[in-house]
Amino acid sequence: MAQTPNIQWFPGHMAKTRRLIQEQVKMVDLVAELADARIPQSSRNPELPKWIGDKRRLLILNKSDAADPDLTARWLRYYRESGLPAIAVDARSGKGVNQFLPAVREILADVIARRQEKGMVGRPIRMMIVGIPNVGKSSFINRLAGGRRAKVEDRPGVTVDKQWISVAKDVDLMDTPGVLWPKFEDPSVGEKLAFTGAVKDQVLDVELLAMRLLGWLREEYPALLARYKLAPADLEGREEYELLELAGRRRGMLISGGEVDTLRAAAMILDEYRGGKLGRLSLEAPPRKGGEQP
Ligand code: G4P
Repeated sequence: MAQTPNIQWFPGHMAKTRRLIQEQVKMVDLVAELADARIPQSSRNPELPKWIGDKRRLLILNKSDAADPDLTARWLRYYRESGLPAIAVDARSGKGVNQFLPAVREILADVIARRQEKGMVGRPIRMMIVGIPNVGKSSFINRLAGGRRAKVEDRPGVTVDKQWISVAKDVDLMDTPGVLWPKFEDPSVGEKLAFTGAVKDQVLDVELLAMRLLGWLREEYPALLARYKLAPADLEGREEYELLELAGRRRGMLISGGEVDTLRAAAMILDEYRGGKLGRLSLEAPPRKGGEQP
């Protein structure tokens, strides 16, 4: 089976973002961590715990409309059982976003009660939102803030600071730039981030990526390959590159001389996966109890 070369990613702004998060985390009551519901584990920055210490956290699995609902339910259970509060949302349509503020208030219930006792009534809850590029942070914040966006500066007695977005009367949110980490220890993490579009195609071999996706679909969801007119008999004993060629041929993507335009076919397959045309597909499942992988 073909292997995607270890994808390395060196975002120039990573160190800057790390410093920003480390510095500003002191100002907030909670960190809202946005991840991709199709790859909950691979889309979470493994460096984050080092940056935010033991600050309270809420995990938000976004793009749940594109993920397998049963697996999302299992992931939520898995995180909650391991002590990390988690919710699933679809920031594009807004579905589930209304769970966010109640979840935050529940996590911070003791802090809020203490502040009330001390008479610190005007003190807003402050949060920071973090996530990898393209995970839907802007969409989520827009859904959450709606018309309130950037109104913080208007409130009397609040210092003008463009970083804070008011998302409720008493809740302010700080945005941070989407960031990846410099090295994917497990090559499949880089691959999954590439399938879902978090790593830009410009730095990737699109054909290799589409081949890997077809290979994965052949193993996990062979029936879906009917979309490319690939029947079960077509799938057996073929190299992944041959699957790509065949899918392109069956979709009529030919260049002169009857050759298949594999680059175009690859771009189409990735586009269709990312656009949800292949259905609700999650690329990873939580570990089952006892540590054995499903
Ligand atoms: P970012 O700030 O984290 O970089 O992400 P942004 O909100 O810009 O969203 C990145 C892409 O993900 C956008 O698609 C957006 O529509 C899509 N997206 C965000 N949330 C969801 C979700 O819950 N479900 C699904 N299916 N997609 C979501 P795009 O192709 O870049 O733009 P467009 O299709 O909206 O024009």
